[in-house]
Amino acid sequence: MLALDSAPLRSARAPGSWPLAGHLFRFGRDPLRFLGSLPAHGDLVEIRLAVQDVHVLCHPDLARRALADGRTFDRTGPVYDRIRADMGNGLATCAHTDHRRQRLLMQPAFRRDRLSHYAAVMQEEIAALADRWRPGQVIDVVEAMFALTTSIAVRTLFSSRVDESTAAGLRHCLDVFPRGSYTRVLLPFTTALPTPANRRFARALAQWRIYVGRVVADGRRRQSGPQDLLSSLLDARDDEQSGMNEQELADQIAVLVLAGAETTSAALAWSWHLLGAHPPAEEELLAEADAVLGGAVATWQDLPRLEHTDRVVREAATQCIGESFALTEASLALASLASRWRLRPVPGAVVRPAARSVLCPRTLPMRVVGRH
Ligand code: HEM
Repeated sequence: MLALDSAPLRSARAPGSWPLAGHLFRFGRDPLRFLGSLPAHGDLVEIRLAVQDVHVLCHPDLARRALADGRTFDRTGPVYDRIRADMGNGLATCAHTDHRRQRLLMQPAFRRDRLSHYAAVMQEEIAALADRWRPGQVIDVVEAMFALTTSIAVRTLFSSRVDESTAAGLRHCLDVFPRGSYTRVLLPFTTALPTPANRRFARALAQWRIYVGRVVADGRRRQSGPQDLLSSLLDARDDEQSGMNEQELADQIAVLVLAGAETTSAALAWSWHLLGAHPPAEEELLAEADAVLGGAVATWQDLPRLEHTDRVVREAATQCIGESFALTEASLALASLASRWRLRPVPGAVVRPAARSVLCPRTLPMRVVGRH
Protein backbone atom coordinates (compact mmCIF):
# COMPACT_ATOMS: atom_id res chain seq x y z
CA MET A 1 0.00 0.00 0.00
CA LEU A 2 1.44 3.37 -1.00
CA ALA A 3 1.46 6.16 1.60
CA LEU A 4 3.46 9.29 2.36
CA ASP A 5 5.36 9.72 5.65
CA SER A 6 4.76 13.43 6.03
CA ALA A 7 1.23 14.09 4.73
CA PRO A 8 -1.97 12.30 3.68
CA LEU A 9 -1.67 10.81 0.19
CA ARG A 10 -3.60 12.78 -2.44
CA SER A 11 -4.86 10.39 -5.10
CA ALA A 12 -6.91 11.52 -8.09
CA ARG A 13 -8.05 10.65 -11.57
CA ALA A 14 -6.65 12.93 -14.29
CA PRO A 15 -9.34 15.09 -15.93
CA GLY A 16 -9.97 15.17 -19.68
CA SER A 17 -10.56 11.44 -20.27
CA TRP A 18 -12.45 10.63 -23.49
CA PRO A 19 -14.83 7.69 -23.93
CA LEU A 20 -12.91 4.62 -25.19
CA ALA A 21 -9.60 6.45 -25.78
CA GLY A 22 -9.23 7.80 -22.25
CA HIS A 23 -6.16 10.08 -22.19
CA LEU A 24 -4.54 8.36 -25.17
CA PHE A 25 -4.58 11.32 -27.57
CA ARG A 26 -3.40 13.88 -25.02
CA PHE A 27 -0.63 11.54 -24.02
CA GLY A 28 0.32 10.64 -27.61
CA ARG A 29 0.35 14.25 -28.81
CA ASP A 30 2.78 15.54 -26.19
CA PRO A 31 3.71 12.96 -23.53
CA LEU A 32 6.01 15.26 -21.55
CA ARG A 33 3.50 18.09 -21.30
CA PHE A 34 0.74 15.63 -20.33
CA LEU A 35 2.86 13.85 -17.69
CA GLY A 36 4.14 17.21 -16.41
CA SER A 37 0.54 18.35 -15.82
CA LEU A 38 -0.33 15.39 -13.56
CA PRO A 39 1.33 16.41 -10.22
CA ALA A 40 -1.09 19.36 -10.05
CA HIS A 41 -3.91 16.81 -9.56
CA GLY A 42 -2.37 14.62 -6.86
CA ASP A 43 0.51 12.49 -5.57
CA LEU A 44 -0.84 9.34 -7.20
CA VAL A 45 -2.77 10.01 -10.39
CA GLU A 46 -4.76 7.52 -12.39
CA ILE A 47 -4.85 7.89 -16.18
CA ARG A 48 -6.49 5.69 -18.82
CA LEU A 49 -4.69 4.75 -22.04
CA ALA A 50 -7.56 3.16 -24.04
CA VAL A 51 -8.14 -0.16 -22.26
CA GLN A 52 -5.36 0.26 -19.67
CA ASP A 53 -5.59 2.03 -16.35
CA VAL A 54 -2.20 3.37 -15.31
CA HIS A 55 -1.19 4.85 -11.95
CA VAL A 56 1.43 7.59 -12.25
CA LEU A 57 3.61 8.27 -9.19
CA CYS A 58 3.78 12.06 -8.94
CA HIS A 59 5.56 12.44 -5.60
CA PRO A 60 9.31 11.74 -5.21
CA ASP A 61 8.72 9.71 -2.00
CA LEU A 62 6.38 7.36 -3.86
CA ALA A 63 8.85 6.96 -6.74
CA ARG A 64 11.68 6.22 -4.30
CA ARG A 65 9.58 3.66 -2.45
CA ALA A 66 8.54 1.86 -5.65
CA LEU A 67 12.10 1.81 -7.05
CA ALA A 68 13.63 0.53 -3.80
CA ASP A 69 11.12 -2.29 -3.27
CA GLY A 70 11.38 -4.60 -6.26
CA ARG A 71 9.44 -7.36 -4.48
CA THR A 72 6.21 -5.37 -4.02
CA PHE A 73 6.57 -3.25 -7.15
CA ASP A 74 7.62 -6.14 -9.35
CA ARG A 75 8.18 -5.95 -13.10
CA THR A 76 4.79 -7.44 -13.93
CA GLY A 77 1.75 -6.33 -15.89
CA PRO A 78 1.12 -5.65 -19.59
CA VAL A 79 3.99 -3.18 -20.05
CA TYR A 80 6.69 -5.57 -18.82
CA ASP A 81 4.96 -8.52 -20.52
CA ARG A 82 5.34 -6.63 -23.79
CA ILE A 83 9.00 -5.72 -23.18
CA ARG A 84 9.84 -9.34 -22.32
CA ALA A 85 7.93 -10.67 -25.34
CA ASP A 86 9.97 -8.36 -27.60
CA MET A 87 13.35 -8.15 -25.92
CA GLY A 88 13.53 -11.19 -23.68
CA ASN A 89 13.82 -11.87 -19.98
CA GLY A 90 17.12 -10.16 -19.14
CA LEU A 91 18.49 -8.39 -16.07
CA ALA A 92 16.73 -5.08 -16.75
CA THR A 93 13.38 -6.69 -17.61
CA CYS A 94 13.08 -9.80 -15.39
CA ALA A 95 10.71 -10.23 -12.46
CA HIS A 96 11.96 -10.21 -8.86
CA THR A 97 12.08 -14.04 -8.66
CA ASP A 98 14.68 -14.21 -11.47
CA HIS A 99 16.65 -11.13 -10.53
CA ARG A 100 19.13 -12.48 -7.96
CA ARG A 101 20.38 -15.33 -10.17
CA GLN A 102 20.64 -13.06 -13.21
CA ARG A 103 22.52 -10.39 -11.28
CA LEU A 104 25.00 -13.00 -10.01
CA LEU A 105 25.58 -14.19 -13.56
CA MET A 106 25.99 -10.71 -15.00
CA GLN A 107 28.10 -9.03 -12.34
CA PRO A 108 31.50 -10.45 -13.48
CA ALA A 109 31.04 -8.95 -16.97
CA PHE A 110 31.23 -5.49 -15.37
CA ARG A 111 34.33 -6.07 -13.22
CA ARG A 112 37.06 -3.40 -13.41
CA ASP A 113 39.57 -5.65 -15.19
CA ARG A 114 36.96 -6.33 -17.90
CA LEU A 115 36.30 -2.62 -18.35
CA SER A 116 39.88 -2.00 -19.44
CA HIS A 117 39.31 -4.40 -22.39
CA TYR A 118 36.10 -2.62 -23.33
CA ALA A 119 37.87 0.76 -23.07
CA ALA A 120 40.31 -0.29 -25.82
CA VAL A 121 37.36 -0.96 -28.16
CA MET A 122 35.70 2.32 -27.17
CA GLN A 123 38.94 4.15 -27.96
CA GLU A 124 39.02 2.78 -31.54
CA GLU A 125 35.40 3.72 -32.25
CA ILE A 126 35.86 7.22 -30.80
CA ALA A 127 39.05 7.75 -32.86
CA ALA A 128 37.17 6.74 -36.04
CA LEU A 129 34.42 9.27 -35.26
CA ALA A 130 36.91 12.07 -34.50
CA ASP A 131 38.55 11.39 -37.90
CA ARG A 132 35.23 11.54 -39.77
CA TRP A 133 34.18 15.04 -38.63
CA ARG A 134 35.05 18.00 -40.89
CA PRO A 135 35.40 21.69 -39.88
CA GLY A 136 32.19 23.69 -40.46
CA GLN A 137 30.01 20.60 -40.81
CA VAL A 138 26.63 20.69 -38.98
CA ILE A 139 25.86 17.36 -37.35
CA ASP A 140 22.91 16.03 -35.38
CA VAL A 141 24.66 15.25 -32.11
CA VAL A 142 21.86 12.89 -31.02
CA GLU A 143 22.36 10.71 -34.09
CA ALA A 144 26.15 10.92 -33.92
CA MET A 145 26.25 9.86 -30.24
CA PHE A 146 23.69 7.09 -30.76
CA ALA A 147 25.69 5.70 -33.73
CA LEU A 148 28.81 5.80 -31.53
CA THR A 149 27.27 4.04 -28.53
CA THR A 150 25.57 1.33 -30.65
CA SER A 151 28.87 0.62 -32.46
CA ILE A 152 30.61 0.39 -29.10
CA ALA A 153 27.84 -1.86 -27.72
CA VAL A 154 28.14 -4.28 -30.66
CA ARG A 155 31.93 -4.36 -30.61
CA THR A 156 32.34 -4.68 -26.83
CA LEU A 157 29.85 -7.54 -26.88
CA PHE A 158 31.18 -9.44 -29.85
CA SER A 159 34.60 -7.87 -30.66
CA SER A 160 36.03 -9.71 -33.67
CA ARG A 161 33.34 -12.43 -33.67
CA VAL A 162 31.15 -10.65 -36.23
CA ASP A 163 32.13 -9.48 -39.71
CA GLU A 164 31.45 -5.88 -40.76
CA SER A 165 28.17 -6.66 -42.58
CA THR A 166 26.75 -8.52 -39.54
CA ALA A 167 27.88 -5.66 -37.27
CA ALA A 168 26.10 -3.20 -39.60
CA GLY A 169 22.96 -5.41 -39.50
CA LEU A 170 23.04 -5.50 -35.70
CA ARG A 171 23.51 -1.73 -35.52
CA HIS A 172 20.54 -1.27 -37.84
CA CYS A 173 18.35 -3.39 -35.52
CA LEU A 174 19.50 -1.32 -32.54
CA ASP A 175 18.47 1.78 -34.42
CA VAL A 176 14.95 0.40 -35.01
CA PHE A 177 14.28 -0.93 -31.48
CA PRO A 178 14.29 2.27 -29.40
CA ARG A 179 12.23 4.14 -31.99
CA GLY A 180 9.50 1.47 -32.00
CA SER A 181 9.60 0.21 -28.45
CA TYR A 182 8.21 3.32 -26.74
CA THR A 183 4.84 3.02 -28.52
CA ARG A 184 4.79 -0.78 -28.25
CA VAL A 185 5.36 -0.67 -24.52
CA LEU A 186 2.81 2.02 -23.75
CA LEU A 187 0.18 0.74 -26.14
CA PRO A 188 0.77 -3.03 -26.12
CA PHE A 189 -2.63 -3.70 -27.66
CA THR A 190 -1.49 -1.95 -30.89
CA THR A 191 1.47 -4.23 -31.57
CA ALA A 192 -0.55 -6.72 -33.63
CA LEU A 193 -1.67 -4.02 -36.07
CA PRO A 194 0.13 -4.29 -39.44
CA THR A 195 1.43 -0.70 -39.37
CA PRO A 196 4.74 0.11 -41.14
CA ALA A 197 6.37 0.74 -37.74
CA ASN A 198 5.22 -2.62 -36.34
CA ARG A 199 6.35 -4.45 -39.49
CA ARG A 200 9.76 -2.72 -39.37
CA PHE A 201 10.09 -3.65 -35.71
CA ALA A 202 9.12 -7.30 -36.35
CA ARG A 203 11.63 -7.59 -39.23
CA ALA A 204 14.43 -6.10 -37.11
CA LEU A 205 13.59 -8.40 -34.19
CA ALA A 206 13.62 -11.52 -36.38
CA GLN A 207 16.94 -10.46 -37.92
CA TRP A 208 18.42 -9.64 -34.51
CA ARG A 209 17.48 -13.08 -33.15
CA ILE A 210 19.13 -14.81 -36.12
CA TYR A 211 22.37 -12.80 -35.79
CA VAL A 212 22.62 -13.21 -32.02
CA GLY A 213 21.75 -16.92 -32.17
CA ARG A 214 24.59 -17.47 -34.64
CA VAL A 215 27.18 -15.56 -32.63
CA VAL A 216 26.23 -17.30 -29.38
CA ALA A 217 26.34 -20.76 -31.01
CA ASP A 218 29.73 -19.94 -32.51
CA GLY A 219 31.01 -18.65 -29.14
CA ARG A 220 29.98 -21.94 -27.51
CA ARG A 221 31.78 -24.03 -30.13
CA ARG A 222 35.10 -22.24 -29.68
CA GLN A 223 37.12 -23.29 -26.65
CA SER A 224 38.78 -19.89 -26.32
CA GLY A 225 37.71 -16.61 -27.86
CA PRO A 226 38.38 -12.88 -27.49
CA GLN A 227 37.90 -11.16 -24.09
CA ASP A 228 34.60 -9.48 -24.85
CA LEU A 229 31.30 -9.15 -23.00
CA LEU A 230 30.05 -12.36 -24.62
CA SER A 231 33.01 -14.33 -23.26
CA SER A 232 32.12 -13.10 -19.72
CA LEU A 233 28.54 -14.19 -20.20
CA LEU A 234 29.62 -17.60 -21.57
CA ASP A 235 31.91 -18.14 -18.55
CA ALA A 236 29.37 -16.95 -15.94
CA ARG A 237 28.18 -19.48 -13.32
CA ASP A 238 25.44 -19.20 -10.68
CA ASP A 239 25.41 -20.59 -7.08
CA GLU A 240 24.90 -24.10 -8.43
CA GLN A 241 27.72 -23.73 -10.96
CA SER A 242 25.36 -23.73 -13.92
CA GLY A 243 25.74 -21.27 -16.75
CA MET A 244 23.25 -19.60 -19.06
CA ASN A 245 21.43 -21.52 -21.79
CA GLU A 246 21.10 -20.17 -25.35
CA GLN A 247 17.85 -18.34 -24.67
CA GLU A 248 19.17 -16.71 -21.49
CA LEU A 249 22.31 -15.54 -23.30
CA ALA A 250 20.32 -14.05 -26.16
CA ASP A 251 17.99 -12.27 -23.69
CA GLN A 252 20.86 -10.78 -21.69
CA ILE A 253 22.58 -9.56 -24.85
CA ALA A 254 19.44 -7.80 -26.10
CA VAL A 255 18.77 -6.19 -22.73
CA LEU A 256 22.38 -5.09 -22.30
CA VAL A 257 22.64 -3.23 -25.55
CA LEU A 258 19.19 -1.73 -25.21
CA ALA A 259 19.81 -0.62 -21.62
CA GLY A 260 23.28 0.66 -22.48
CA ALA A 261 23.22 2.36 -25.87
CA GLU A 262 20.42 4.92 -25.79
CA THR A 263 21.02 5.87 -22.15
CA THR A 264 24.70 6.65 -22.69
CA SER A 265 24.12 8.44 -25.98
CA ALA A 266 21.46 10.62 -24.33
CA ALA A 267 23.89 11.45 -21.50
CA LEU A 268 26.53 12.41 -24.08
CA ALA A 269 24.11 14.48 -26.18
CA TRP A 270 22.90 16.41 -23.10
CA SER A 271 26.53 16.94 -22.07
CA TRP A 272 27.39 18.53 -25.44
CA HIS A 273 24.25 20.65 -25.29
CA LEU A 274 25.00 21.90 -21.77
CA LEU A 275 28.66 22.54 -22.62
CA GLY A 276 27.58 24.56 -25.68
CA ALA A 277 25.31 26.65 -23.47
CA HIS A 278 27.85 27.18 -20.62
CA PRO A 279 31.15 28.44 -22.08
CA PRO A 280 33.07 28.53 -18.74
CA ALA A 281 32.34 24.81 -18.14
CA GLU A 282 33.30 24.07 -21.76
CA GLU A 283 36.58 26.02 -21.40
CA GLU A 284 37.46 23.94 -18.37
CA LEU A 285 36.76 20.71 -20.25
CA LEU A 286 38.83 21.83 -23.26
CA ALA A 287 41.72 22.90 -21.02
CA GLU A 288 41.70 19.49 -19.31
CA ALA A 289 41.52 17.66 -22.66
CA ASP A 290 44.50 19.71 -23.91
CA ALA A 291 46.56 19.16 -20.77
CA VAL A 292 45.89 15.41 -20.53
CA LEU A 293 45.54 14.39 -24.17
CA GLY A 294 47.08 17.12 -26.32
CA GLY A 295 44.96 16.15 -29.34
CA ALA A 296 45.22 12.36 -28.85
CA VAL A 297 42.39 9.93 -28.11
CA ALA A 298 41.88 9.18 -24.41
CA THR A 299 42.88 5.75 -23.10
CA TRP A 300 41.88 3.76 -20.01
CA GLN A 301 45.09 5.02 -18.29
CA ASP A 302 44.08 8.67 -18.90
CA LEU A 303 40.76 8.35 -17.07
CA PRO A 304 41.98 9.18 -13.51
CA ARG A 305 43.34 12.51 -14.79
CA LEU A 306 40.11 13.45 -16.61
CA GLU A 307 38.51 14.68 -13.40
CA HIS A 308 36.50 17.58 -14.81
CA THR A 309 35.25 15.41 -17.71
CA ASP A 310 34.12 12.83 -15.17
CA ARG A 311 32.17 15.49 -13.24
CA VAL A 312 30.45 16.68 -16.45
CA VAL A 313 29.45 13.12 -17.33
CA ARG A 314 28.19 12.32 -13.82
CA GLU A 315 25.95 15.37 -14.00
CA ALA A 316 24.14 13.80 -16.97
CA ALA A 317 24.11 10.06 -16.00
CA THR A 318 22.00 7.98 -13.08
CA GLN A 319 23.24 4.53 -11.24
CA CYS A 320 23.00 0.96 -12.41
CA ILE A 321 25.13 -2.16 -13.13
CA GLY A 322 26.37 -0.40 -16.28
CA GLU A 323 27.41 2.77 -14.46
CA SER A 324 31.19 2.26 -14.73
CA PHE A 325 30.82 1.12 -18.34
CA ALA A 326 28.79 4.24 -19.18
CA LEU A 327 31.08 6.64 -17.30
CA THR A 328 34.17 5.14 -18.97
CA GLU A 329 32.58 5.33 -22.41
CA ALA A 330 31.23 8.85 -21.97
CA SER A 331 34.45 10.27 -20.46
CA LEU A 332 36.62 8.74 -23.20
CA ALA A 333 34.28 10.10 -25.88
CA LEU A 334 33.85 13.57 -24.43
CA ALA A 335 37.53 14.20 -23.69
CA SER A 336 38.82 12.68 -26.94
CA LEU A 337 36.39 14.54 -29.18
CA ALA A 338 36.95 17.78 -27.24
CA SER A 339 40.70 17.45 -27.67
CA ARG A 340 40.22 17.83 -31.44
CA TRP A 341 36.86 19.51 -31.96
CA ARG A 342 34.43 22.01 -30.43
CA LEU A 343 30.71 21.62 -30.99
CA ARG A 344 29.00 25.01 -31.21
CA PRO A 345 25.22 25.52 -30.95
CA VAL A 346 23.54 26.38 -34.26
CA PRO A 347 21.88 29.82 -33.82
CA GLY A 348 18.09 29.56 -33.64
CA ALA A 349 18.02 25.79 -33.09
CA VAL A 350 15.48 24.90 -30.40
CA VAL A 351 16.46 21.89 -28.30
CA ARG A 352 13.51 20.03 -26.80
CA PRO A 353 13.49 16.77 -24.86
CA ALA A 354 11.83 13.75 -26.49
CA ALA A 355 10.27 10.91 -24.50
CA ARG A 356 12.05 7.73 -25.60
CA SER A 357 13.25 4.96 -23.29
CA VAL A 358 15.09 7.87 -21.63
CA LEU A 359 14.70 11.61 -22.08
CA CYS A 360 16.92 12.61 -24.94
CA PRO A 361 17.06 15.74 -27.13
CA ARG A 362 14.68 15.42 -30.09
CA THR A 363 17.46 16.64 -32.38
CA LEU A 364 20.61 18.59 -31.51
CA PRO A 365 22.18 20.34 -34.50
CA MET A 366 25.67 21.64 -33.66
CA ARG A 367 28.54 22.96 -35.77
CA VAL A 368 31.88 21.14 -35.75
CA VAL A 369 34.80 23.54 -35.23
CA GLY A 370 38.43 22.39 -35.51
CA ARG A 371 40.74 23.18 -32.55
CA HIS A 372 44.29 22.42 -33.65
C1 HEM B 1 24.17 7.11 -18.70
C2 HEM B 1 23.93 5.86 -18.92
C3 HEM B 1 22.93 5.01 -18.16
C4 HEM B 1 21.82 5.36 -17.45
C5 HEM B 1 21.26 6.76 -17.22
C6 HEM B 1 21.21 4.14 -16.97
C7 HEM B 1 20.05 4.08 -16.18
C8 HEM B 1 19.54 2.92 -15.62
C9 HEM B 1 18.41 2.86 -14.70
C10 HEM B 1 17.61 4.06 -14.20
C11 HEM B 1 18.22 1.57 -14.37
C12 HEM B 1 17.15 1.00 -13.42
C13 HEM B 1 15.98 0.49 -14.21
C14 HEM B 1 14.98 -0.30 -13.35
O1 HEM B 1 15.18 -0.49 -12.16
O2 HEM B 1 13.98 -0.78 -13.93
C15 HEM B 1 19.19 0.80 -15.10
C16 HEM B 1 19.31 -0.56 -15.04
C17 HEM B 1 20.18 -1.30 -15.82
N1 HEM B 1 21.12 -0.82 -16.71
FE1 HEM B 1 21.60 1.12 -16.96
N2 HEM B 1 21.94 3.08 -17.41
C18 HEM B 1 23.00 3.55 -18.15
C19 HEM B 1 23.99 2.82 -18.78
C20 HEM B 1 24.00 1.45 -18.87
C21 HEM B 1 24.97 0.66 -19.60
C22 HEM B 1 26.14 1.25 -20.41
C23 HEM B 1 24.62 -0.65 -19.46
C24 HEM B 1 25.25 -1.89 -20.02
C25 HEM B 1 26.35 -1.93 -20.71
C26 HEM B 1 23.42 -0.68 -18.63
C27 HEM B 1 22.77 -1.83 -18.25
C28 HEM B 1 21.75 -1.88 -17.31
C29 HEM B 1 21.19 -3.13 -16.80
C30 HEM B 1 21.59 -4.53 -17.21
C31 HEM B 1 20.20 -2.77 -15.86
C32 HEM B 1 19.38 -3.68 -14.96
C33 HEM B 1 20.14 -3.83 -13.66
C34 HEM B 1 19.44 -4.63 -12.59
O3 HEM B 1 18.18 -4.66 -12.57
O4 HEM B 1 20.13 -5.21 -11.73
N3 HEM B 1 23.08 0.60 -18.29
N4 HEM B 1 19.99 1.65 -15.84
